[in-house]
Amino acid sequence: MPGKIAVRGITKTFAGVHGDIRALDPVYLTIPEGQFLCIVGPSGCGKTTLLRIIAGLEQPTDGEVDFSIAHDGKPLRSVVFQEQGIFPWMSVLQNTGFGLKVRGVGRRERDAEARRYLDMLGLTPFADAYPRQLSGGMRQRVNIARAFANDPAILLMDEPLASLDEQTKLLVQEDLLRLWDGSHKTVVYITHSLDEAIVLGDRVIVMTNRPGTIKTVVDIDLPRPRNVLDMQSNEAFFDIRSRIWTALREEVLTLRERETASDVSA
Ligand SMILES: Nc1ncnc2c1ncn2[C@@H]1O[C@H](COP(=O)(O)OP(=O)(O)OP(=O)(O)O)[C@@H](O)[C@H]1O
Ligand SMILES: [Mg+2]
Repeated sequence: MPGKIAVRGITKTFAGVHGDIRALDPVYLTIPEGQFLCIVGPSGCGKTTLLRIIAGLEQPTDGEVDFSIAHDGKPLRSVVFQEQGIFPWMSVLQNTGFGLKVRGVGRRERDAEARRYLDMLGLTPFADAYPRQLSGGMRQRVNIARAFANDPAILLMDEPLASLDEQTKLLVQEDLLRLWDGSHKTVVYITHSLDEAIVLGDRVIVMTNRPGTIKTVVDIDLPRPRNVLDMQSNEAFFDIRSRIWTALREEVLTLRERETASDVSA
């Protein structure tokens, strides 16, 4: 039977200096094994908090997350954040194989696996370079290569492309599509870009303002393999985008009103 991630009634309240901050209202969500799930929502609505709870980096106030996904000695989940991750003192090859090293995979096998991913991402000529010698886009590709080389059952990504320029972003989206098509990992992917969510995802979840909860779920039944540019001339793509934007727009407008009201009262 295919596995799943079951998010059951997760809530989160943070204790703040000026009182409690309710970040998440109950979130119920089932993510089938192999699905690419994208999450969009207004700034501060609790997306990162939800991802960190699924990653096991944060405890929920209520509720639980159950995993029934086989991972046979491989990691259950790995996280890719926007700014992070690669070690400045390690070469690109060492960075890419780092997760495998931690798992005790021998040098030869680890290097071969790391090189396979570097090759797929066009980074082979940079295998011996150090992060400081790379552009931001390349560094983020190394970050992604490392996440895939580590071969977790579940990949959790929090705006991994947010710091990239538009052209680099398109290229890395293509890389991600190619890597994912070859692996069919379960992915939870946060982005502020609706286009990115639709191009990459099987399903897009729109969250409400804080306290965040699920407002709308949209299935992306566009055929795969997908090509980033072709997708954007597809009529169904615009239709889906307008459905997502309609839901998100309401939340963004409410947030703006709230902020304006608090400015006026300040
Ligand atoms: N460790 C913490 N302590 C206190 N408050 C926190 C903590 N982490 C997050 N928050 C608060 O919880 C709310 C949700 O934050 P979160 O980072 O999950 O939002 P987000 O949807 O990821 O936002 P963005 O789109 O800007 O990345 C925010 O109001 C934030 O200030
Ligand atoms: Mg965030």
